[in-house]
Parts: sequence; structure tokens; C-alpha cells
Amino acid sequence: MVGESLKDRVRSFDHHDQSVVPTIHTLLAELRQGCPVARSEAYDGFYVVSRQDDIVTVAKDGETFSAAVQGLGAVAMVPDAETTRAPLFESDPPVHTGWRNVLQGFFARPAVRAHEQFIREVTDQVIDEVAPRGRCEVVGDIAARIPSVVIAEVMGVPRHRQQELARLARDLVAPASVQDAHRAGAGLVEFLRGEIAERRDREDTGGDVLTAVVHAEVDGRRATDAELLKYAFLMVSAGFLTTVDTISSLMLQLAEDPATRRRVVADRTLVPALIEEIVRHESAVAATGRTVLAETTLGGVDLHPGDRLLLAWGSGTRDERYVDDPATFRLDRQQRGRDLGWGSGVHRCLGMHLARLELGIVFDKVLTAMPEFEVEPGTVPERTYGVLRGVRHLNLRWS
Ligand code: HEM
Repeated sequence: MVGESLKDRVRSFDHHDQSVVPTIHTLLAELRQGCPVARSEAYDGFYVVSRQDDIVTVAKDGETFSAAVQGLGAVAMVPDAETTRAPLFESDPPVHTGWRNVLQGFFARPAVRAHEQFIREVTDQVIDEVAPRGRCEVVGDIAARIPSVVIAEVMGVPRHRQQELARLARDLVAPASVQDAHRAGAGLVEFLRGEIAERRDREDTGGDVLTAVVHAEVDGRRATDAELLKYAFLMVSAGFLTTVDTISSLMLQLAEDPATRRRVVADRTLVPALIEEIVRHESAVAATGRTVLAETTLGGVDLHPGDRLLLAWGSGTRDERYVDDPATFRLDRQQRGRDLGWGSGVHRCLGMHLARLELGIVFDKVLTAMPEFEVEPGTVPERTYGVLRGVRHLNLRWS
């Protein structure tokens, strides 16, 4: 009976519908326990995959499961999104390997370290301006202002146009509805279209993560304009929105968990553990899709070509089979699977070193400039869920 009612409830599950937010972790825990590959009828039907083992199985098998999936993501604002496959993000091996090779060097540790000074300057500027105020709305005043400029730099947007991209990208943060997301996305699409066109005519063919993809030949050809646009849009989302959400989620965690905050204020060597634990506890990439390519079985469920899956990364990181006391935020974790929040298999996060560097700089600075903060009394922080997990509003005050 219990199993039946869980199946019934999940049948209407829509990860983009914000009414799922308050109970999402309870629902995912129930699914891990009683219905690990669960059918939803939303968006013409898909399966929610919630256990760590099943998520890893799918992520590591690019022959049976394709990363190209329609209708479950949030890129509908990109023209021809439904008929276009984004280089890298939506490609499968061996083509994916070609794209990964084109981009790997930009995200390796030494290349990322070259951005360190720039990230420090942007972070200092934002936090030095906000800290004396004694209160702020974290998402708009801190979280969205730093990664927006960093992703513009990594994409090779000239410095005088970085604030424009940053502003357009910030409009994408935590939209209240799919319609709002579409409106915000349209401006960004136009900006990126211009950046791509400008790069087509360049002599220099590989200085940044956009130029390199514009000029690369993979699988015997160059990417089309529509493919480049989807790629660029996804790169901004992957590099920017994820970091905004992680900063906001961690600020909320630290505001509500003064013991952990004071521990890290006193011992900065714990900052990397703090970052790994927030990526486990509230993985900013909450759930991404796959399409089944061949007959197979997963978690006892028969799957057929064309079936779509939603890999709930933020559920795999809380799988009680591998992670002790998964709902608790703890700095001392060593267990298997605690890093699943960065993904698994060939699509595992390419920007991981950049994200770690950026988040480390931001939290080192925040904990120096405003070590004591709390949620503003009388306000209620609002979380989000969807492809991404984060925070819509977070009012803090500090002494
Ligand atoms: C804390 C922040 C971040 C988290 C939690 C995160 C998480 C993830 C996850 C789970 C995936 C795999 C998705 C899938 O397989 O469907 C992924 C892929 C990816 N991430 Fe991140 N990410 C973060 C930050 C970044 C940043 C800052 C960048 C770049 C500037 C980035 C670039 C990418 C790219 C390019 C991919 C696709 C790789 C591929 O398809 O081969 N990410 N990320």
C-alpha cells in the first residue's frame, strides 16, 4: 500500500514546479527506499533515478544512455533547442571525447590558477562594498555578482562587455516561473549570438572556451551556429548558475549552523572540506537528463529506447547506503560517493577546479569580513529546485 501511494504521488512529479521544494529531500529519500526508478507522467513521461548506484551506472554507460535529452532541461529559450545537440554537454562518446579534448586545457588546474588574481579582485570589490552595510540579500548582493564576471572572463568576453553579460546572466538566477526564465534567456541568447559571430572571423582560434569551440573540428566538421549558441548558453549556466547557487546554499547553511561557521572561521584549512560538503549536501546540479538508447533494465524497471531519465545527483549524494546520516552537514566525511555532486562518468564536471577555486576565495573572504551572520529575523529564506538547487532569497544580517 505504501509503495502504491508513493508511485501515485511521483506520477505527477515535475522537478521544475517549485511546489516540490519544501519536501524534495523527503520525497527523494522515500524514492530511494521504495521506488528507486520512479515513473512521472510530467513532460510526456520520464523516470526519476534516485539511488547512487543507478545514477552511476547510467552516467558511466554512454552506449546505453545518451546525454542528449529533450524537454527535461531548461534551455527552451535557445532557438532550435529541441532539434540541436550542444557540443560537449549533449554529445556522446566518441564525439564527446573530441569536445572534451578541445576544452580540457582551459579547465585544468594550471589554467584555472591563471584566473586566481582576477577572482580575488572581483571578490574583494564585492565583499568590501557589502560587509560594512551589516545586512544584505545574499543572492543578488553577493552570490550573483562574483561568478557572473568570472564566467565572462573564462568565456573570453572583453572586459568592457563583461558587466553586460554579467547583468544578463544574473537575470537568469532563480526565475519565479518557466516564463520568467524564457524572458531572461532571450537577452542572453542575443548577447551570445553576437560573441559567436565576432569569433567566427578571428585570426586567433583558441584563446578561450568560446573561441576554441567556434574553430574546433570534431567528428570531421565545425559546430553550426545553432549548436554553438546552445553550447554557449549551457556553458554560462554550468559555470555561473551553479556557483551562484552553491554560494547561496552555503551562506544559508552557515547562517543556520553557527558551530560549523565558527569552526571554519578559526581554521581556514577547513574551507575545502566546507565546499565539498555543500556540493554533497545541496548539489547545485540537482538533476539532469539522459535518453535510453537500447533495451535495458534499471532498478528492476524495463527501459526502452527513447525513454527519458532524470538523474537526481542531489539524491545520490544523500544515499544512506553509502553516506552516514546523510541529511546532516558534516565536515569530516570520507565515504564513497560523497563527491557525486560533481557528476560521474565522462560528463563529470569539467569546471570543478574553477568552481573549487572560486568558492574557496569567496568563503575565505566572507568569513574574514563578516564572520558572524544570521538570517534576518522575520524573513524566511526561499530555496529552489529544478535542474538546479539553490536559494531564491536570503536576507542576512551581521554585527
Ligand atoms: C559548485 C559548482 C558546480 C557543481 C555542483 C557542478 C556540477 C556538475 C555536474 C553534476 C555535472 C554533470 C552533469 C551531467 O552529467 O549531466 C557537471 C558538468 C559540467 N560542468 Fe559543472 N558544476 C559546478 C560548477 C561548474 C563551473 C564553474 C563550470 C565552468 C565554468 C562547470 C562546467 C561544467 C561543464 C562544461 C560540464 C559538462 C561536462 C561534459 O559534458 O563533459 N561546472 N557539473
